[in-house]
Amino acid sequence: MKPAVRPATIEDTQAISALHREAFVRQQASDLWVQATLSAYPRLLPFVLVLDGQIAGYIFWAQKSGIRPAATLELDQIAIAARHQGHGYGEHLIRESLALATASLHGTGQTLKSILVSTRADNAAQRLYAKVLGAKVVASIEGLYSATEVIMLADMTGGTSGSTSPSS
Ligand SMILES: CC(C)(COP(=O)(O)OP(=O)(O)OC[C@H]1O[C@@H](n2cnc3c(N)ncnc32)[C@H](O)[C@@H]1OP(=O)(O)O)[C@@H](O)C(=O)NCCC(=O)NCCS
Repeated sequence: MKPAVRPATIEDTQAISALHREAFVRQQASDLWVQATLSAYPRLLPFVLVLDGQIAGYIFWAQKSGIRPAATLELDQIAIAARHQGHGYGEHLIRESLALATASLHGTGQTLKSILVSTRADNAAQRLYAKVLGAKVVASIEGLYSATEVIMLADMTGGTSGSTSPSS
């Protein structure tokens, strides 16, 4: 059975913070970061992956540049517990949470125009974003955080410009 994906709540702060601490060793104050994120709906749309009753992953989607009729969502942050990586859970979490986030946008009369995601140029997550979202590298910024960062974009309108739509 596939693990459940559900919206995150403030009660999930500790569990998500533990995953954040493990996954992003260059970042500090995990509790504060996660708490601030979970308090920022609808600017931030947070979800968790629940495996055997435990939170084994999280994803934060962010609405960019205001509440727009045609929204651009940024995949702000994702992590799967190290011991559970490489089993397709990251892909599952992106797909399921995106469906929930899109439904949430529709509930407020918005549509999803595009998805933005950035990652370190040397992070294999690039392949994940290309595969699941159809995102393509559109820019790279040298030295943005700890190294060169690539900016990826996916067109979610089904049009021909930009990137392809994700396979489902
Ligand atoms: C990135 C991350 C969320 C992926 O989660 P995951 O559950 O391990 O990924 P999946 O098993 O769903 O992999 C799906 C696809 O992603 C790609 N992928 C994921 N991790 C990869 C890796 N380490 N090396 C190469 N490809 C990888 C593959 O294309 C894979 O598809 P395939 O199975 O057809 O080869 C996870 O590795 C993680 O939490 N990393 C630490 C935090 C991080 O770097 N987050 C992203 C910051 S931008």
